[in-house]
Amino acid sequence: MIDLAAARSQVGRASILLPDPVPAHPLLDGKQEIGRGEYSIVLDKGDGERVYKIVSSPADYFLYTADDRPCGEHFPVIHADHGIVGRAQSGYPLHLIEMEKLYPLADGSPAEELALRLIDTYWSACQQWSRLGMDMGRIALYDMAMNPLAASDNLQKALKALSDFVEDYQVLPDILNANNLMMRKDGTLVFSDPVFIA
Ligand SMILES: Nc1ncnc2c1ncn2[C@@H]1O[C@H](COP(=O)(O)OP(=O)(O)O)[C@@H](O)[C@H]1O
Ligand SMILES: [Mg+2]
Repeated sequence: MIDLAAARSQVGRASILLPDPVPAHPLLDGKQEIGRGEYSIVLDKGDGERVYKIVSSPADYFLYTADDRPCGEHFPVIHADHGIVGRAQSGYPLHLIEMEKLYPLADGSPAEELALRLIDTYWSACQQWSRLGMDMGRIALYDMAMNPLAASDNLQKALKALSDFVEDYQVLPDILNANNLMMRKDGTLVFSDPVFIA
């Protein structure tokens, strides 16, 4: 297995957390923060089924709300777009999205195995295309979409949908990070946060 931390820093993606506080909002009052990344904060809705995700990255906002966003079993179910609820220090608006609650990949689960295989294949493709600089991730993903991993049809469709989205919206894949791949209660692998904008 590749050294993920080393691979990420090689592509300039060291771990930083969004510094902003949770904005005051009636839907968010008293809700517990259960996740935070470089661009988002996740609060538990408390019903066991849904979370509130505050997103500052336009890439994430497009991914979750665009009419032509990628759908299917490997993408998160979005329940509502509650609009802009503040502004991040980065200058981007904070959008509030209500989406399905997902879980970290369980150790040794088929979803984890599949995710590690995807990450490994993606990283090999990135290294193969490293001469392309910033474009290598897009090309690596395209390569994966075109060359089936011998996994499921739906997973192959998901990779193709993600690759098309990345091309259409001119964003970059962000799957070199096991945190961005999660699972449902039923064990399905979900691309929870697969894109970013440099
Ligand atoms: N739908 C979700 N349900 C539960 N936790 C989530 C969900 N989405 C993300 N998280 C948690 O929040 C963290 C940050 O979310 P992520 O989508 O990676 O945001 P960022 O855009 O900041 O990278 C994740 O590492 C994960 O632990
Ligand atoms: Mg993330």
